[in-house]
Amino acid sequence: AQKACIFDLDGVITDTAHYHFLAWRRLAQSLNIPFDEEDNHRLKGVGRMESLAYILDKGARTVSDDELASLAHQKNKDYQDLITGISPTDLLPGILDAFAWLKSHGWLVGLASASRNAPQVLAGLKITEQFDYVADAGAIPNGKPAPDIFLDVAKAFGLSASQCVGVEDAVAGITAIKSAGMYAAGIGDAAVLTEADIVLPTPEGLPEQVFSIF
Ligand code: BG6
Ligand code: MG
Repeated sequence: AQKACIFDLDGVITDTAHYHFLAWRRLAQSLNIPFDEEDNHRLKGVGRMESLAYILDKGARTVSDDELASLAHQKNKDYQDLITGISPTDLLPGILDAFAWLKSHGWLVGLASASRNAPQVLAGLKITEQFDYVADAGAIPNGKPAPDIFLDVAKAFGLSASQCVGVEDAVAGITAIKSAGMYAAGIGDAAVLTEADIVLPTPEGLPEQVFSIF
């Protein structure tokens, strides 16, 4: 049967997770709200407005809708500055091999990123054409850990969840894949990504350890 691999972007294909962290930390510091690595772990995969709400809540801060919009805009401006100049050298090890394996084995390739900046990052990395379908984060009401964005890609492919492998670095993302009923490959630390079916430290090994046994 037809199979598909559905990738997360930030932290799986390239290390933009670190840039999101830097931009959020800068915003939190400007508000005098502490922001550490643990907060960062929780915010991985979480959408822009939901992440901002988490930070404001941590600082027990309430702001007007106008200020909310301006804070989100500031974070995104800082993030976009950080990703200017992103290029194919920023691809994580093993990603191009994974794409090559998937193509030669006839799998469909999808992207399920919560980021509105995903098209720009794909273009900078020069991998836009590797994808058969890219979910539009702005058109999916329920963000990760809800399964919706992964189900959107499966639907676009006309596939059932059991024909799809999801690849994620975030706890919220792994939950989304498992809630969708898909096989979840985690990239990172097995002690953190406890819900994943398998965890690899980097995308290297995806063809041998995940795709070829699926
Ligand atoms: C996810 C990142 O991919 O996208 C999160 O893991 C980020 O850190 C989210 O908040 C939304 O991204 P953006 O670019 O739309 O603000
Ligand atoms: Mg991610």
